[in-house]
Amino acid sequence: MTATATAFSYPDVRRVNRQLDELIAAPIHSILPEALAAYERDYFEAKCGTSKAMIEQARGVIPGGVQHNLAFNYPFPLAFTKAEGAYLYDVDGNRYLDFLQAGGPTVLGSNPPEVREKVIALLNECGPSTGLFHEYEYKLAKKISESMPAVEMFRMLGSGTEACMAAIRVARLATKNKRIIKMGGAYHGWSDQLAYGIRIPGSKFTQAHGVPRRIMAATDEFFPNDLADLERKLRFNQLRGGTAAVMMEPIGPESGTWPLDFDFNAGVAELCKKYGALYIADEVVSGFRFGLGGAQGMFGVEPDLTIFGKVVAGGYPGAGGLGGKREYMAYLSAGIAGGPKHKKALIGGTMAATPISCVAGYHALCEIERTGAAEKAAEMGDRLTAGLQRLIQKYALPFVAFNQGSVCHLETVGTMHFSINWSRPWGIPEVLSQTSKRQHEMEHMGAAYMAEGVVTLAGSRLYTSAAYTPELIDDALAAFDRVFANVGLLEQGAA
Ligand SMILES: Cc1ncc(COP(=O)(O)O)c(C=O)c1O
Repeated sequence: MTATATAFSYPDVRRVNRQLDELIAAPIHSILPEALAAYERDYFEAKCGTSKAMIEQARGVIPGGVQHNLAFNYPFPLAFTKAEGAYLYDVDGNRYLDFLQAGGPTVLGSNPPEVREKVIALLNECGPSTGLFHEYEYKLAKKISESMPAVEMFRMLGSGTEACMAAIRVARLATKNKRIIKMGGAYHGWSDQLAYGIRIPGSKFTQAHGVPRRIMAATDEFFPNDLADLERKLRFNQLRGGTAAVMMEPIGPESGTWPLDFDFNAGVAELCKKYGALYIADEVVSGFRFGLGGAQGMFGVEPDLTIFGKVVAGGYPGAGGLGGKREYMAYLSAGIAGGPKHKKALIGGTMAATPISCVAGYHALCEIERTGAAEKAAEMGDRLTAGLQRLIQKYALPFVAFNQGSVCHLETVGTMHFSINWSRPWGIPEVLSQTSKRQHEMEHMGAAYMAEGVVTLAGSRLYTSAAYTPELIDDALAAFDRVFANVGLLEQGAA
């Protein structure tokens, strides 16, 4: 299974992408309608009544009833009251194995006491924010720059979205070029200019409702795992004033849902150098999930700029930051007077870099390092994936399971493996209708896993943490076994 010598397992990318090609060509297999109806009746209706009533009330004042895009809506969202280690508990007292992990930040597991106690001590002493310098700003920045050679300096921001926006500003100032090329299908937050090529490579502005197209006029996308496509676009941009930056998740778009060849990042870095663009690595998910060196350490590359989020605040709020070479980070100097003589990028945030996010981030990183948490979480990811692959074989399903360390994928419908080809625009409505039909089934599968006591990310992604043990992974596999036993080919029109 391991393609290259690394501390973390790396999938045979060519084989996985071939399997995903086959999956999207195959008819949809999903939880059968009668089994889904039984889960709705015997689990959600019978055992989640308090959640249901709470969500009904919330719908009156919160659009859709929930605040998070990652909350399941089918058949209705559940309300959670407790998160501890590898477990989540809902308001009705039901317990779940947690593979959502708050969307990725909790490599140590939920609410680790080693971090919580430091946060409580800080709150008792200083409160959550002062708007002025706190020593943990320095401690966190130093820890990160000691762990990643490419991060000579670090500026903390409020979120990954903000860090992506800041990275683009810096790249434009540093190169004096305007154009950005992002990897198709990738999510880099929800800013206007990056609401482009979301989820489906080649989808351009089609998912960017509410954003005027001219705002994305300087944004392009390239196809995952296709260096020739990237070079074509870089060359084309040369005729239009040059490229400021190429932005990508080193592990592939959507946390590696479309996995990349192991040496792909090195190829991108080389092309960036050749065309005078900055190479921006979005490590919002991979930063510290692949050890303190991040995915850039695993792939042996040194990005010009690195975007942080999630783990950087240890699961606490205010999780964002930008790091990179000194010459670029100079554009981000803060403070009222002094600083460099050249232009500064306009960035800020009243609640960015609060003592609470810096303390939590610093101690989370120290704990990850001290306990080998990233490696432990990755071992659990390997065990989970191997077990899922066995179950897929047992039930002869077209599903695909693969992982990069603690980031695991269970693709049952392959929604994110579609792409749009604008030279055949008549195919676009078919792609959009297929993906929305399949998305619907992914939600059904997510609901079935939930009813069996397993919380996933959108029914297709699973983050493991160091709080997992082999026994807990085996419990999860038993739950997947029960769901897969009720999966079959959906009748035409049933989806
Ligand atoms: C790769 C990547 N970049 C950026 C973001 C945006 O981060 P945030 O949600 O903190 O704004 C996310 C969020 O999931 C992400 O996965």
